Amino acid sequence: MDQITAVCPGSFDPVTVGHLDIIRRAANMFAKVIVVVATNSSKKPSFTAEERIEMIKTAIADVPNVTVTQYGGLLADYAREVGAGAIVKGLRAMSDFEYEFQMALTNKKLNPDVETVFLTTKAENMYLSSSMVKEIASMGGDISDFVPEAIHDTIIKRIQTERK
Ligand code: PNS
Repeated sequence: MDQITAVCPGSFDPVTVGHLDIIRRAANMFAKVIVVVATNSSKKPSFTAEERIEMIKTAIADVPNVTVTQYGGLLADYAREVGAGAIVKGLRAMSDFEYEFQMALTNKKLNPDVETVFLTTKAENMYLSSSMVKEIASMGGDISDFVPEAIHDTIIKRIQTERK
C-alpha cells in the first residue's frame, strides 16, 4: 500500500484524539493521506469548515504525508479526482457498523476503483465522539483527554462563544 493515496473523510466537528489516532495509523499504512472535511447532510456543524481544517492541520502538523482539505460534493467523486485507492474510516462499536457498511457499499457503487478500509478504534476511544466533546465543553467539563492539547483552548473558546 506504499504507493496508494487514501482519503480520511469525516465531519470532524471538532477533531478528537480518536480521529487523530485513525489518521496517524492510516499515514503509516499509505503513501499519502488526505483528510477531507466533508458534508454530512444529516448534521449541522458547530465549527466552520475552515475552523475544522485549521484544527486538524494544527493537530497533525508533525505527520509529513498528511494533508487536509474540504469537499462539498460526493466523496466517491473526490476520491476519483485525486486518484485515491482507499477511503479509511474508524469503527468504534457495532453501532457504527450498519451506517458505515451502507456508506462503503454506496461509495463502491459510485466509484468502483476505491476500497473502503476500516480501522478498529483503540479501546480507550470506543465511547468518544465529537458531539460528546461539545456537550462536555458546553457544560464546563474537562475535555483534555479527548482533544489534543494544541487545539484544546480553541475548542473551549469557540464553544463558550456559541453559548453566549
Ligand atoms: O464524521 P461523519 O459525519 O460520520 O462523516 C460522514 C461523511 C462526511 C464521511 C459522509 O457523510 C460523506 O461521505 N459525505 C460526503 C457526501 C457523500 O459522499 N455522501 C454519500 C455517502 S455514501
